[in-house]
Amino acid sequence: MSLTTARLRFRPFVGADHAWLHPIASDPVVTRYTDWGPNSDDDTAAFLGEATAEGAAPSPWTWAVTLADGTGIGSASLDVVSATHRRARVGYLVGPSHQGVGYGTEVATWLVARAFEEHGIRRVEATCHPDNTASARVLAKAGLLLEGRMRGHLLARGVWRDSLLWAALDTDPRAAGH
Ligand SMILES: CC(C)(COP(=O)(O)OP(=O)(O)OC[C@H]1O[C@@H](n2cnc3c(N)ncnc32)[C@H](O)[C@@H]1OP(=O)(O)O)[C@@H](O)C(=O)NCCC(=O)NCCS
Repeated sequence: MSLTTARLRFRPFVGADHAWLHPIASDPVVTRYTDWGPNSDDDTAAFLGEATAEGAAPSPWTWAVTLADGTGIGSASLDVVSATHRRARVGYLVGPSHQGVGYGTEVATWLVARAFEEHGIRRVEATCHPDNTASARVLAKAGLLLEGRMRGHLLARGVWRDSLLWAALDTDPRAAGH
């Protein structure tokens, strides 16, 4: 399956990505609904160290997301939670200067297609903060259905919070364009 979509490219992270990734990952507005961040310089370096480690485990896969001209705009991840049950989890991030033009939806749609077509996944899951309306829209447009609200799901920055659970099965009707 191609590592490109109409407007985006997916590739492994490299150490030099710190220059564009850190301003995004250290922005408290970007991370207000995530259970990580805002990143210190060391946090971003540690993330990139794991993502670029030699002999790293095959899953989770993490990709840098760029425009066709190589500009870094975000990240995408696919984690096979259970090979036995063919279940995976996806996540994504789009930097503020590139939000609102459909890239998030393009990333999520690609992740779901990749999970089904490349990894034989049966069920793709994602979670989001109940107030993260942009992410909820992305997930709905990528073909995931809202299955419920998980109470006390995460301890984020010292506060317990709920998460919404979204999922798509490989037998569900696919999102438009896939
Ligand atoms: C969630 C995120 C990926 C969305 O990326 P994006 O590229 O802006 O997404 P899209 O352009 O595909 O827009 C998706 C929808 O969200 C809506 N949206 C965008 N920003 C919004 C906001 N601040 N409030 C409400 N809706 C918003 C868009 O209008 C669009 O909906 P529409 O099609 O009904 O108009 C991006 O905001 C992000 O990375 N946020 C920080 C990290 C994060 O929350 N990741 C997800 C963790 S679950």
